[in-house]
Amino acid sequence: MKTYEIAVIPGDGIGKEVVPAATEVLDAVAEVHGGISFQYSHFPWSCDYYEQHGQMMPDDGLDILQNYEAIFLGAVGDPGRVPDHVSLWGLLIKIRREFEQVINIRPAKYFRGLASPLLNPNDFDLLVVRENSEGEYSEIGGRIHKGDDEIAIQNAVFTRKGTERAIRYAFDLAQKRRGHVTSATKSNGIVYSMPFWDQVFQEVSQSYPHVQTASVHIDALSAFFVTKPHTFDVIAASNLFGDILTDIGAAIMGSIGIAPAANINLNGKYPSMFEPVHGSAPDIAGQGIANPIGQIWTAKMMLDHLGHQEMGQHLLKVVEDVTQSGVKTKDIGGSSTTKQVTHEIINRLKR
Ligand code: NAI
Ligand code: MG
Repeated sequence: MKTYEIAVIPGDGIGKEVVPAATEVLDAVAEVHGGISFQYSHFPWSCDYYEQHGQMMPDDGLDILQNYEAIFLGAVGDPGRVPDHVSLWGLLIKIRREFEQVINIRPAKYFRGLASPLLNPNDFDLLVVRENSEGEYSEIGGRIHKGDDEIAIQNAVFTRKGTERAIRYAFDLAQKRRGHVTSATKSNGIVYSMPFWDQVFQEVSQSYPHVQTASVHIDALSAFFVTKPHTFDVIAASNLFGDILTDIGAAIMGSIGIAPAANINLNGKYPSMFEPVHGSAPDIAGQGIANPIGQIWTAKMMLDHLGHQEMGQHLLKVVEDVTQSGVKTKDIGGSSTTKQVTHEIINRLKR
Protein backbone atom coordinates (compact mmCIF):
# COMPACT_ATOMS: atom_id res chain seq x y z
CA MET A 1 0.00 0.00 0.00
CA LYS A 2 1.39 3.38 -1.05
CA THR A 3 0.25 6.30 1.09
CA TYR A 4 0.62 9.75 -0.48
CA GLU A 5 1.33 12.71 1.80
CA ILE A 6 -0.76 15.59 0.47
CA ALA A 7 -0.72 19.20 1.72
CA VAL A 8 -4.28 20.54 1.57
CA ILE A 9 -4.98 24.29 1.48
CA PRO A 10 -8.75 24.93 1.12
CA GLY A 11 -8.18 28.73 1.18
CA ASP A 12 -11.19 31.04 1.05
CA GLY A 13 -14.85 31.07 0.07
CA ILE A 14 -16.04 28.03 -1.85
CA GLY A 15 -12.52 26.54 -1.56
CA LYS A 16 -13.60 25.47 1.92
CA GLU A 17 -16.62 23.65 0.42
CA VAL A 18 -15.21 22.03 -2.72
CA VAL A 19 -11.90 20.85 -1.26
CA PRO A 20 -13.47 18.55 1.39
CA ALA A 21 -15.82 17.27 -1.34
CA ALA A 22 -12.88 16.41 -3.60
CA THR A 23 -10.79 14.71 -0.91
CA GLU A 24 -13.81 12.58 0.00
CA VAL A 25 -14.06 11.55 -3.66
CA LEU A 26 -10.29 10.87 -3.85
CA ASP A 27 -10.55 8.57 -0.84
CA ALA A 28 -13.42 6.72 -2.52
CA VAL A 29 -11.44 6.20 -5.77
CA ALA A 30 -8.45 4.93 -3.80
CA GLU A 31 -10.68 2.57 -1.83
CA VAL A 32 -12.39 1.20 -4.93
CA HIS A 33 -9.16 0.59 -6.86
CA GLY A 34 -6.98 -0.36 -3.88
CA GLY A 35 -3.20 -0.14 -3.52
CA ILE A 36 -3.02 3.54 -2.60
CA SER A 37 -4.32 5.87 0.08
CA PHE A 38 -3.99 9.54 0.95
CA GLN A 39 -2.78 11.18 4.14
CA TYR A 40 -3.90 14.82 4.21
CA SER A 41 -2.36 17.63 6.23
CA HIS A 42 -4.68 20.62 6.34
CA PHE A 43 -3.33 24.16 6.40
CA PRO A 44 -5.74 27.02 7.20
CA TRP A 45 -3.75 29.61 5.20
CA SER A 46 -6.28 32.08 3.85
CA CYS A 47 -7.69 35.57 4.30
CA ASP A 48 -9.00 34.49 7.76
CA TYR A 49 -5.44 33.55 8.63
CA TYR A 50 -4.25 36.93 7.30
CA GLU A 51 -6.65 38.82 9.57
CA GLN A 52 -5.34 36.93 12.59
CA HIS A 53 -1.62 36.85 11.76
CA GLY A 54 -0.99 39.69 9.31
CA GLN A 55 0.27 37.30 6.61
CA MET A 56 -1.27 34.69 4.33
CA MET A 57 0.99 31.91 5.56
CA PRO A 58 3.65 31.60 8.26
CA ASP A 59 7.31 32.50 7.54
CA ASP A 60 8.25 28.82 7.33
CA GLY A 61 5.17 27.96 5.21
CA LEU A 62 7.17 26.97 2.15
CA ASP A 63 9.58 24.86 4.24
CA ILE A 64 6.59 22.96 5.59
CA LEU A 65 5.01 22.44 2.15
CA GLN A 66 8.28 21.29 0.60
CA ASN A 67 8.02 17.92 2.36
CA TYR A 68 4.77 16.87 0.66
CA GLU A 69 4.30 14.86 -2.52
CA ALA A 70 1.70 17.28 -3.86
CA ILE A 71 -0.24 20.40 -2.86
CA PHE A 72 -4.02 20.40 -3.30
CA LEU A 73 -5.39 23.93 -3.21
CA GLY A 74 -8.95 25.32 -3.38
CA ALA A 75 -9.07 29.05 -4.07
CA VAL A 76 -7.61 32.17 -2.55
CA GLY A 77 -9.21 35.60 -2.27
CA ASP A 78 -11.70 37.61 -0.26
CA PRO A 79 -11.58 41.02 -1.89
CA GLY A 80 -14.00 42.56 0.65
CA ARG A 81 -11.48 42.00 3.45
CA VAL A 82 -8.00 41.63 1.91
CA PRO A 83 -6.84 43.20 -1.39
CA ASP A 84 -6.39 40.53 -4.09
CA HIS A 85 -2.75 41.41 -4.80
CA VAL A 86 -1.96 40.80 -1.12
CA SER A 87 -3.83 37.48 -0.79
CA LEU A 88 -2.84 35.94 -4.13
CA TRP A 89 0.80 37.06 -4.11
CA GLY A 90 1.11 36.09 -0.44
CA LEU A 91 0.12 32.48 -1.00
CA LEU A 92 -0.80 31.12 -4.42
CA ILE A 93 1.68 32.98 -6.61
CA LYS A 94 4.39 32.67 -3.98
CA ILE A 95 4.06 28.87 -4.10
CA ARG A 96 4.02 28.79 -7.92
CA ARG A 97 7.16 30.93 -8.20
CA GLU A 98 9.23 29.64 -5.27
CA PHE A 99 8.47 26.01 -6.05
CA GLU A 100 9.50 26.50 -9.69
CA GLN A 101 6.14 25.31 -11.02
CA VAL A 102 7.19 26.29 -14.50
CA ILE A 103 4.40 24.62 -16.46
CA ASN A 104 0.67 25.12 -16.13
CA ILE A 105 -1.60 22.59 -17.80
CA ARG A 106 -5.30 23.04 -18.38
CA PRO A 107 -7.47 20.58 -20.29
CA ALA A 108 -10.78 21.42 -21.94
CA LYS A 109 -13.16 18.91 -23.48
CA TYR A 110 -16.73 18.42 -24.47
CA PHE A 111 -18.27 17.37 -21.17
CA ARG A 112 -21.23 15.01 -21.31
CA GLY A 113 -24.37 16.46 -19.74
CA LEU A 114 -23.20 20.03 -19.94
CA ALA A 115 -24.59 22.69 -22.24
CA SER A 116 -21.68 24.14 -24.18
CA PRO A 117 -22.33 27.63 -25.58
CA LEU A 118 -21.10 26.27 -28.92
CA LEU A 119 -23.85 25.41 -31.35
CA ASN A 120 -22.01 22.30 -32.53
CA PRO A 121 -19.57 21.38 -29.78
CA ASN A 122 -18.50 18.19 -31.59
CA ASP A 123 -16.13 16.13 -29.49
CA PHE A 124 -13.32 18.47 -28.62
CA ASP A 125 -10.63 17.30 -26.18
CA LEU A 126 -7.60 19.55 -25.92
CA LEU A 127 -4.83 20.41 -23.49
CA VAL A 128 -3.09 23.75 -23.17
CA VAL A 129 0.50 23.68 -21.91
CA ARG A 130 1.28 27.17 -20.68
CA GLU A 131 4.76 28.43 -19.86
CA ASN A 132 4.30 29.48 -16.23
CA SER A 133 7.47 31.26 -15.14
CA GLU A 134 8.47 34.05 -17.54
CA GLY A 135 7.40 35.39 -20.94
CA GLU A 136 5.10 38.38 -20.93
CA TYR A 137 4.56 38.10 -17.14
CA SER A 138 7.95 39.40 -16.11
CA GLU A 139 8.86 41.99 -13.53
CA ILE A 140 11.42 43.64 -15.78
CA GLY A 141 10.55 47.15 -16.81
CA GLY A 142 9.46 50.32 -15.12
CA ARG A 143 7.81 53.69 -15.30
CA ILE A 144 9.43 57.07 -15.61
CA HIS A 145 8.15 60.68 -15.56
CA LYS A 146 4.62 61.71 -14.78
CA GLY A 147 1.74 63.05 -16.80
CA ASP A 148 2.14 63.84 -20.49
CA ASP A 149 5.74 62.61 -20.59
CA GLU A 150 5.08 59.40 -18.74
CA ILE A 151 6.65 56.21 -20.11
CA ALA A 152 5.87 52.60 -19.11
CA ILE A 153 8.14 49.80 -20.30
CA GLN A 154 7.20 46.16 -19.84
CA ASN A 155 9.73 43.64 -21.08
CA ALA A 156 8.80 40.13 -22.15
CA VAL A 157 11.48 37.61 -21.20
CA PHE A 158 11.95 34.40 -23.17
CA THR A 159 14.86 32.21 -22.15
CA ARG A 160 15.92 29.23 -24.24
CA LYS A 161 15.66 27.05 -21.13
CA GLY A 162 12.11 28.19 -20.24
CA THR A 163 10.83 28.13 -23.80
CA GLU A 164 12.32 24.75 -24.61
CA ARG A 165 11.08 22.97 -21.50
CA ALA A 166 7.50 24.17 -22.02
CA ILE A 167 7.50 23.13 -25.69
CA ARG A 168 9.17 19.80 -24.91
CA TYR A 169 6.54 19.12 -22.23
CA ALA A 170 3.82 19.68 -24.82
CA PHE A 171 5.45 17.22 -27.23
CA ASP A 172 5.86 14.59 -24.49
CA LEU A 173 2.17 14.88 -23.64
CA ALA A 174 1.13 14.77 -27.31
CA GLN A 175 3.02 11.50 -27.75
CA LYS A 176 0.73 9.96 -25.13
CA ARG A 177 -2.37 11.51 -26.73
CA ARG A 178 -3.28 11.99 -30.38
CA GLY A 179 0.21 13.05 -31.47
CA HIS A 180 -0.41 16.65 -32.50
CA VAL A 181 1.07 19.89 -31.14
CA THR A 182 -0.04 23.38 -32.10
CA SER A 183 2.27 26.27 -31.27
CA ALA A 184 0.61 29.55 -30.30
CA THR A 185 2.68 32.25 -31.94
CA LYS A 186 2.50 35.85 -33.11
CA SER A 187 5.71 36.16 -35.04
CA ASN A 188 4.05 38.42 -37.59
CA GLY A 189 3.63 41.16 -34.98
CA ILE A 190 6.08 40.47 -32.15
CA VAL A 191 9.40 40.50 -33.95
CA TYR A 192 11.98 39.17 -31.46
CA SER A 193 10.47 36.83 -28.89
CA MET A 194 7.98 35.06 -31.15
CA PRO A 195 10.38 34.23 -34.01
CA PHE A 196 12.63 32.87 -31.23
CA TRP A 197 9.68 30.83 -29.88
CA ASP A 198 9.03 29.53 -33.44
CA GLN A 199 12.70 28.58 -33.85
CA VAL A 200 12.78 26.63 -30.57
CA PHE A 201 9.50 24.95 -31.50
CA GLN A 202 11.01 23.93 -34.83
CA GLU A 203 14.18 22.62 -33.14
CA VAL A 204 12.31 20.63 -30.48
CA SER A 205 10.00 19.11 -33.09
CA GLN A 206 13.03 17.44 -34.72
CA SER A 207 13.27 15.05 -31.75
CA TYR A 208 9.63 14.02 -32.22
CA PRO A 209 9.36 12.81 -35.82
CA HIS A 210 6.03 11.08 -35.14
CA VAL A 211 4.31 14.14 -33.72
CA GLN A 212 2.50 16.37 -36.20
CA THR A 213 2.87 20.12 -35.74
CA ALA A 214 1.21 23.37 -36.65
CA SER A 215 2.04 26.97 -35.86
CA VAL A 216 -0.93 29.33 -35.58
CA HIS A 217 -1.03 33.02 -34.74
CA ILE A 218 -2.74 33.61 -31.41
CA ASP A 219 -5.52 35.79 -32.81
CA ALA A 220 -6.58 33.15 -35.33
CA LEU A 221 -6.05 30.39 -32.76
CA SER A 222 -8.41 32.13 -30.31
CA ALA A 223 -11.05 32.22 -33.01
CA PHE A 224 -10.47 28.54 -33.89
CA PHE A 225 -11.01 27.61 -30.20
CA VAL A 226 -14.57 28.81 -30.78
CA THR A 227 -15.15 27.72 -34.39
CA LYS A 228 -13.35 24.33 -34.51
CA PRO A 229 -11.94 23.27 -31.12
CA HIS A 230 -12.16 19.58 -32.14
CA THR A 231 -9.17 20.06 -34.47
CA PHE A 232 -6.72 20.55 -31.56
CA ASP A 233 -4.83 18.09 -29.36
CA VAL A 234 -2.02 19.77 -27.36
CA ILE A 235 -1.31 23.50 -27.60
CA ALA A 236 2.04 24.96 -26.49
CA ALA A 237 1.71 28.57 -25.43
CA SER A 238 3.61 31.36 -23.72
CA ASN A 239 2.43 32.65 -20.35
CA LEU A 240 0.05 35.34 -21.62
CA PHE A 241 -1.24 33.44 -24.66
CA GLY A 242 -1.85 30.34 -22.51
CA ASP A 243 -3.67 32.36 -19.88
CA ILE A 244 -6.09 33.81 -22.41
CA LEU A 245 -6.60 30.58 -24.36
CA THR A 246 -7.49 28.61 -21.23
CA ASP A 247 -10.26 31.01 -20.30
CA ILE A 248 -11.75 30.37 -23.74
CA GLY A 249 -11.27 26.65 -23.06
CA ALA A 250 -13.29 26.88 -19.83
CA ALA A 251 -15.96 28.98 -21.54
CA ILE A 252 -16.57 26.55 -24.41
CA MET A 253 -16.95 23.69 -21.93
CA GLY A 254 -19.89 25.49 -20.37
CA SER A 255 -18.78 26.66 -16.92
CA ILE A 256 -15.74 27.92 -15.08
CA GLY A 257 -16.94 25.76 -12.18
CA ILE A 258 -15.68 22.57 -13.84
CA ALA A 259 -12.28 23.66 -15.21
CA PRO A 260 -9.18 22.07 -13.61
CA ALA A 261 -5.49 23.03 -13.62
CA ALA A 262 -2.10 21.81 -12.52
CA ASN A 263 1.10 23.73 -11.79
CA ILE A 264 3.96 21.38 -12.50
CA ASN A 265 7.44 21.40 -10.99
CA LEU A 266 9.79 19.68 -13.44
CA ASN A 267 13.11 19.47 -11.59
CA GLY A 268 11.78 17.34 -8.73
CA LYS A 269 13.03 19.77 -6.08
CA TYR A 270 9.57 20.85 -4.98
CA PRO A 271 6.02 19.50 -5.10
CA SER A 272 3.58 20.35 -7.87
CA MET A 273 0.31 22.11 -7.03
CA PHE A 274 -3.19 21.24 -8.18
CA GLU A 275 -5.93 23.90 -8.13
CA PRO A 276 -9.08 24.53 -10.16
CA VAL A 277 -9.27 27.48 -12.54
CA HIS A 278 -12.08 29.20 -10.64
CA GLY A 279 -11.65 31.53 -7.68
CA SER A 280 -13.28 31.69 -4.25
CA ALA A 281 -16.68 32.79 -5.65
CA PRO A 282 -17.63 35.12 -2.75
CA ASP A 283 -21.08 35.62 -4.32
CA ILE A 284 -22.13 32.04 -3.56
CA ALA A 285 -19.75 31.08 -0.72
CA GLY A 286 -21.36 29.51 2.35
CA GLN A 287 -24.54 28.45 0.53
CA GLY A 288 -23.47 24.86 -0.16
CA ILE A 289 -24.22 25.20 -3.88
CA ALA A 290 -20.70 25.47 -5.35
CA ASN A 291 -19.94 23.11 -8.21
CA PRO A 292 -17.36 20.61 -6.89
CA ILE A 293 -16.43 19.28 -10.37
CA GLY A 294 -13.58 21.74 -10.99
CA GLN A 295 -11.92 20.62 -7.77
CA ILE A 296 -12.70 16.93 -8.41
CA TRP A 297 -11.33 17.04 -11.97
CA THR A 298 -8.26 18.75 -10.45
CA ALA A 299 -7.94 15.72 -8.15
CA LYS A 300 -8.03 13.57 -11.30
CA MET A 301 -5.07 15.55 -12.65
CA MET A 302 -3.23 14.90 -9.39
CA LEU A 303 -3.95 11.16 -9.74
CA ASP A 304 -2.54 11.27 -13.30
CA HIS A 305 0.56 13.09 -12.07
CA LEU A 306 1.13 10.51 -9.34
CA GLY A 307 1.00 7.77 -11.99
CA HIS A 308 -2.57 6.51 -11.57
CA GLN A 309 -4.06 7.34 -14.95
CA GLU A 310 -6.52 4.45 -14.91
CA MET A 311 -8.06 5.69 -11.64
CA GLY A 312 -8.19 9.21 -13.05
CA GLN A 313 -9.93 8.02 -16.18
CA HIS A 314 -12.51 6.09 -14.17
CA LEU A 315 -13.15 9.11 -11.96
CA LEU A 316 -13.72 11.49 -14.88
CA LYS A 317 -16.05 9.02 -16.59
CA VAL A 318 -18.15 8.77 -13.41
CA VAL A 319 -18.27 12.56 -13.03
CA GLU A 320 -19.56 12.86 -16.60
CA ASP A 321 -22.11 10.07 -15.99
CA VAL A 322 -23.42 11.94 -12.95
CA THR A 323 -23.62 15.21 -14.87
CA GLN A 324 -25.42 13.50 -17.73
CA SER A 325 -27.90 11.94 -15.27
CA GLY A 326 -28.96 15.47 -14.28
CA VAL A 327 -27.48 15.57 -10.77
CA LYS A 328 -25.75 18.94 -11.08
CA THR A 329 -25.35 22.28 -9.38
CA LYS A 330 -27.13 25.49 -10.26
CA ASP A 331 -24.31 27.05 -12.33
CA ILE A 332 -24.73 24.28 -14.92
CA GLY A 333 -28.50 24.25 -14.89
CA GLY A 334 -29.28 21.84 -12.06
CA SER A 335 -30.64 22.21 -8.54
CA SER A 336 -28.41 19.84 -6.54
CA THR A 337 -26.15 20.94 -3.71
CA THR A 338 -22.39 20.45 -3.51
CA LYS A 339 -22.94 17.54 -1.12
CA GLN A 340 -25.59 15.86 -3.30
CA VAL A 341 -23.35 15.94 -6.37
CA THR A 342 -20.38 14.67 -4.34
CA HIS A 343 -22.33 11.80 -2.82
CA GLU A 344 -23.80 10.78 -6.16
CA ILE A 345 -20.26 10.62 -7.59
CA ILE A 346 -19.08 8.51 -4.64
CA ASN A 347 -22.08 6.17 -4.89
CA ARG A 348 -21.46 5.58 -8.58
CA LEU A 349 -17.74 5.06 -8.04
CA LYS A 350 -18.53 2.32 -5.55
CA ARG A 351 -21.17 0.71 -7.76
P1 NAI B 1 -14.57 33.33 -9.43
O1 NAI B 1 -14.04 32.25 -10.29
O2 NAI B 1 -14.41 33.15 -7.97
O3 NAI B 1 -16.11 33.58 -9.74
C1 NAI B 1 -16.58 33.99 -11.02
C2 NAI B 1 -18.07 33.58 -11.19
O4 NAI B 1 -18.12 32.16 -11.38
C3 NAI B 1 -18.90 33.87 -9.94
O5 NAI B 1 -20.19 34.25 -10.35
C4 NAI B 1 -18.96 32.54 -9.23
O6 NAI B 1 -20.11 32.35 -8.45
C5 NAI B 1 -18.88 31.54 -10.38
N1 NAI B 1 -18.19 30.31 -9.98
C6 NAI B 1 -16.86 30.12 -9.88
N2 NAI B 1 -16.59 28.88 -9.46
C7 NAI B 1 -17.76 28.26 -9.30
C8 NAI B 1 -18.15 26.97 -8.86
N3 NAI B 1 -17.22 26.03 -8.52
N4 NAI B 1 -19.46 26.68 -8.78
C9 NAI B 1 -20.38 27.58 -9.14
N5 NAI B 1 -20.10 28.82 -9.55
C10 NAI B 1 -18.79 29.17 -9.62
O7 NAI B 1 -13.83 34.68 -9.90
P2 NAI B 1 -13.91 36.16 -9.27
O8 NAI B 1 -15.29 36.44 -8.77
O9 NAI B 1 -13.31 37.02 -10.28
O10 NAI B 1 -12.91 36.15 -8.05
C11 NAI B 1 -13.30 35.93 -6.69
C12 NAI B 1 -12.04 35.84 -5.83
O11 NAI B 1 -11.28 34.69 -6.21
C13 NAI B 1 -11.10 37.03 -6.00
O12 NAI B 1 -10.52 37.30 -4.75
C14 NAI B 1 -10.06 36.53 -6.96
O13 NAI B 1 -8.82 37.18 -6.84
C15 NAI B 1 -9.95 35.09 -6.52
N6 NAI B 1 -9.41 34.19 -7.55
C16 NAI B 1 -8.59 33.20 -7.12
C17 NAI B 1 -8.12 32.25 -7.98
C18 NAI B 1 -7.31 31.15 -7.42
O14 NAI B 1 -7.21 30.97 -6.22
N7 NAI B 1 -6.70 30.35 -8.25
C19 NAI B 1 -8.45 32.27 -9.41
C20 NAI B 1 -9.39 33.33 -9.77
C21 NAI B 1 -9.83 34.25 -8.86
MG1 MG C 1 -6.64 33.76 -16.39
